[in-house]
Amino acid sequence: MDKLVIEGGAKLKGEVTVSGAKNAVLPILAATLLTDEPCVIKGVPNLRDTNSMLKILRSLGKVAEFDKGKVGVCAGKASSYIASYKLVSTMRASFCVLGPLLGKLKKAKVSLPGGCVIGVRPVDLHLKGIKALGADVSIESGYVVAKANKLHGAYIYLGGVYGSSVLATDNVMMAAVLAHGKTVIESAACEPEVVDLAEFLIKMGAKIKGHGTPVIEIEGVKNLHGAVHSIISDRIEAGTLILASLITAGDVLIKNAQYKHLGALLDKLDEAGAHISRLDGALHVKGNKKLRAINITTLPYPGFPTDMQAQMMSLMSVTGGISVITEKIYPDRFMHVSELNRMGAQIQREGPHAIVEGVKNLSGAPVMASDLRASAGLVLAGLSARGETSISRIYHLERGYEFIEEKLINLGAKVWREKE
Ligand code: UD1
Repeated sequence: MDKLVIEGGAKLKGEVTVSGAKNAVLPILAATLLTDEPCVIKGVPNLRDTNSMLKILRSLGKVAEFDKGKVGVCAGKASSYIASYKLVSTMRASFCVLGPLLGKLKKAKVSLPGGCVIGVRPVDLHLKGIKALGADVSIESGYVVAKANKLHGAYIYLGGVYGSSVLATDNVMMAAVLAHGKTVIESAACEPEVVDLAEFLIKMGAKIKGHGTPVIEIEGVKNLHGAVHSIISDRIEAGTLILASLITAGDVLIKNAQYKHLGALLDKLDEAGAHISRLDGALHVKGNKKLRAINITTLPYPGFPTDMQAQMMSLMSVTGGISVITEKIYPDRFMHVSELNRMGAQIQREGPHAIVEGVKNLSGAPVMASDLRASAGLVLAGLSARGETSISRIYHLERGYEFIEEKLINLGAKVWREKE
């Protein structure tokens, strides 16, 4: 296993290009199960998670080729309807093969993904949605087994205790595109990645309206065909790079970044006093200003993303004043708190709140990554800390950040990899 070592203190300077969105590409790859014709997906990030999804597609009988940011998925019929525990347990997003398998083959057997370190992650909304479409659903030996002679359109309220669900919306949308009649998903997730999936499905011949709003309408069609699609840029990577620039008081032009997808984050950073120029397809961060502490509450899109919470906590750790960070999507997503405190941060956890008292400097320390975004938060802390930080279990970072070391090194960061 590798660890990432960072010598803190370098100001990031220069230009960096954001990769394609992990959370868009995974369901879009799953959606290729809905057709036997070839699909070409462009701008695919070379990530551990992308490779996991390609493995699952291959295990289901697809021919999936990955070539420098372009995936050609060619296929005859998906020959299997079973997604194994071995593959699904490596990545929760693989559960989104359920909808397309059911839609296309009218049967699916997909391993339950289980919980993860950021908390209990149920799939009740996914199951509620496909049951409403007419699937007969049972849980057998850790697998969801879903069957239907015919799927029919339905009115489905898909809101849960924590609001809308991204992957449940994706799954139900993908099952409904080949159902008979009209489906209405109310309390649908509005994330840009859901919109990107809907756009891809439309290119394949699906009839979808309202994506990007809480009410999505789908008119079922008989068949879908192949399509060519380019993945949107990764707003969470863009946000992470913005905060990396700010925490090092750097000066960075972030290309392939859509400010329209980053409204809540940029608004909060404006409030903190940051200087960020919104350009056409890019953002320019000048991190030379002293920031103020701000309060954050994570919410479904267009609210503040939970996937930016850990990184924001690192920034607030070295920002004068007290900020309160409230996690409303995953109330237990605070594994990074103790690691940041090991670096000298002053953070107290109280239920779903973290109270952060900004300190002048963090000091480098050995820390451990617990999940993807927590590791990004620790990288930011390491970039700003005095001395050396070594982050173990860095494979978490590889799940969602393409070429992150190279990108940071090109911006002047002192980062390298060592064997643990
Ligand atoms: C997606 C993202 C992930 C992000 C999360 C929240 C992908 C591949 N992953 O995950 O990066 O952190 O959205 O923005 O797109 N819930 C239920 N029942 C369900 C499903 C979800 O109660 O059946 C709850 C979850 O536990 C959570 C909330 O709903 O509290 C939102 O989760 P959800 O949007 O489903 O997350 P994912 O789609 O798994």
